[in-house]
Amino acid sequence: MAQLAPSILSADFSKLGEEVSLIEKGGAHIIHVDVMDGHFVPNISYGATVMKSLNGKTALAYDVHLMIENPHLYIEDFVTGQTEYITVHQEACRHLNRTIQQIHSLGIKAGVSINPATPVDTLVNILPYVDLVLLMSVNPGFGGQSFIEDTLDKSRQLRKIREEKGYSFLIQMDGGISLENLEAVLTAGVDIVVVGSAIFKTPDIVKTTQEFVEKLIKWD
Ligand code: DX5
Ligand code: ZN
Repeated sequence: MAQLAPSILSADFSKLGEEVSLIEKGGAHIIHVDVMDGHFVPNISYGATVMKSLNGKTALAYDVHLMIENPHLYIEDFVTGQTEYITVHQEACRHLNRTIQQIHSLGIKAGVSINPATPVDTLVNILPYVDLVLLMSVNPGFGGQSFIEDTLDKSRQLRKIREEKGYSFLIQMDGGISLENLEAVLTAGVDIVVVGSAIFKTPDIVKTTQEFVEKLIKWD
């Protein structure tokens, strides 16, 4: 079954712990942690301290999405007993293979992400080594943007490569996903769905999370 990864970027930070318990109650599978540095993307979000403030307050694991330059310098900061994935951008890594090795050496699953304008072909030499490929379906930097449809085709391409080569990475999609376009995302073969504003900006976070999870269950 596909998994739901709510992005806390759209949460109310003044009550982050409370809002995380709401998505947990609603059945979310993992917490998507969007880290932005104001260089790789034109926005600054939060760092490891904010993420770590949730340690032990939720049973959910962290799925860290580093939208930062020189991610190799900061990866260790995000390693906790609850960190499952750390994902870096292909566009931000001069030595991508080394950075993926670094994440693995810390006992964490490694992901690679590409922006909407970066082709899947650029990943061909890293796909055998990653646990996750994160396809950006908006230009990274902000929550609440509109979904870029072309990304669906990238997921189909990745599925084909995975099948042909026998790779095991999961496909994640992030940006502009709502209850309305969820079915198209699942049809394209996405394994982990990231949702920010379509969950946290709704009046009943538990209910909306449940609605997403129910759709994932029905789809399975
Ligand atoms: C964008 C982030 C996304 C974003 C998703 O840079 O990586 O995770 O917060 O938010 P929505 O679902 O609102 O597009
Ligand atoms: Zn993200």
